[in-house]
Amino acid sequence: MHFGSLRFKLTLWYVLILGILLISFSSFLYFTLSKSLHRDVDNKLRSLAELIASESSSPLSKFGFGNIDQALETSMNLKPIGKFIQVLDESGNIGRKSDNLKNVQLPISLNALKNASKGLITFETNRSLGNTPLRIITFPVIENNHVTKIVQIASSLEEVEDALNKLFLILIITVPLALMVAILGGQFLAHKALKPVDNITQTARMITSQNLNQRIIPPKVKDEISRLIETFNEMISRLDQSFRQIKQFSSDASHELKTPLTILKGEVEVTLRKQRTPQEYQQTLKSNLEEINRMSQIVGDLLILSKADTGEIRLNKEDINLTEILNEIVAQMDVLAQSKKLHLSTSNHHQDVHIFGDALRLRELFINLIENGIKYTEEGGSIHITLQKEYPPPVKNQSNWVEGERGEFVKIIVSDTGIGIAKEDQEKVFNRFFRVDKARSREQGGSGLGLSICKWIVEAHQGEIKVESELGKGSSFIVKLPLSSPLMMN
Ligand SMILES: Nc1ncnc2c1ncn2[C@@H]1O[C@H](COP(=O)(O)OP(=O)(O)O)[C@@H](O)[C@H]1O
Ligand SMILES: [Mg+2]
Repeated sequence: MHFGSLRFKLTLWYVLILGILLISFSSFLYFTLSKSLHRDVDNKLRSLAELIASESSSPLSKFGFGNIDQALETSMNLKPIGKFIQVLDESGNIGRKSDNLKNVQLPISLNALKNASKGLITFETNRSLGNTPLRIITFPVIENNHVTKIVQIASSLEEVEDALNKLFLILIITVPLALMVAILGGQFLAHKALKPVDNITQTARMITSQNLNQRIIPPKVKDEISRLIETFNEMISRLDQSFRQIKQFSSDASHELKTPLTILKGEVEVTLRKQRTPQEYQQTLKSNLEEINRMSQIVGDLLILSKADTGEIRLNKEDINLTEILNEIVAQMDVLAQSKKLHLSTSNHHQDVHIFGDALRLRELFINLIENGIKYTEEGGSIHITLQKEYPPPVKNQSNWVEGERGEFVKIIVSDTGIGIAKEDQEKVFNRFFRVDKARSREQGGSGLGLSICKWIVEAHQGEIKVESELGKGSSFIVKLPLSSPLMMN
């Protein structure tokens, strides 16, 4: 076990807390028991002293004189075992003693004598008589407001101290023993609790970009560790997914570039086979230029997407007049539409819709969408562009809802009467390199990156893009852009 390991720290804390707990509990037990035992001794001494005092000062008493043991037995039928009794006169001279004192006498301290003369009781512990410690009460007997006698009773503390010593011995042995067991138990518990973490570490160590399909087997019980494992597995899934996408993307990209290169190579090789006329060379070069343009378009698009992925492109957002921009684009694209005998029209429900955005990128977005409409619509069809503001219903009980500030957006719909997109392809058209009909799209100069770029532009403006389409009838691309105030934008 490493000293820096979680296992060691957990065990250490566990043992430390248990140790503090056990030691405080033991001390509490020892001191309360000691106090209670000593109080018991004192109480017994005091009640016996009170009894003797009242008996000896009573005028009807048979306490009389002479041997104190006999006197106690005859007057009170009392045989105090293990108690040493002596009675002194008011100035401290020994009067009568119990037999068990023989020729010794109980010591009386100056302090006790002083207290007694004031009528106060004194308890003292004395260790000067033999080996056994004695607890002595010095009890003044008061008659007619005068101290006439002093009763002293002593009791051995041997039993009390024996009991306390035994307890001390038991505790001093069992507490460290319990702590030793706690160390083992703590280690076991920490080991058991942290075992799944080791499993995670091992699996994580094995995972590379080559085997991202590996998962950690989650335990059956749901707890913090299982949640960690779930989260970890989800993270690997996401990594797996993005790695797959990256692989797919690079294979698609190289494939896409390979076709024009092959064509280029073929054309050049064929042309070089023999002497050609200047017209023939011109023809080849023209065709070459087409492929070069296509490649440069693809490379340019790829560059935009990869920069967008890494967040390298900064949008130049400013207040722009969307209506104006759309009208300009439509005027430009009309030439293209007319050449294909298509009808391009717009309907603006609002004059001068302003949004906060990057004019250049938004231009690219709408050109892409209208171009697609033109590309995928047969001669004689039409393309229609609608611009409308939308207001969400006001939220009840939301006092800070101010009309014109929250949740408003502008909707731009580019719809055509073209070939349409099958249901199962509608989600995929925004994927990179996706084309419903590769040959046809290529013929038209498309590489399948246009809509991916559109999606990125819309999302960079906190908007949404979706498509509604029916095969053979036409498609509508719907773009929603927020009308938020510049302050709310980044
Ligand atoms: N207006 C449309 N009508 C029918 N299909 C469309 C339309 N716009 C896009 N598509 C389909 O979505 C695919 C992806 O579009 P896009 O990303 O712009 O690529 P490209 O135009 O280069 O083919 C197109 O190849 C086409 O199959
Ligand atoms: Mg396109």
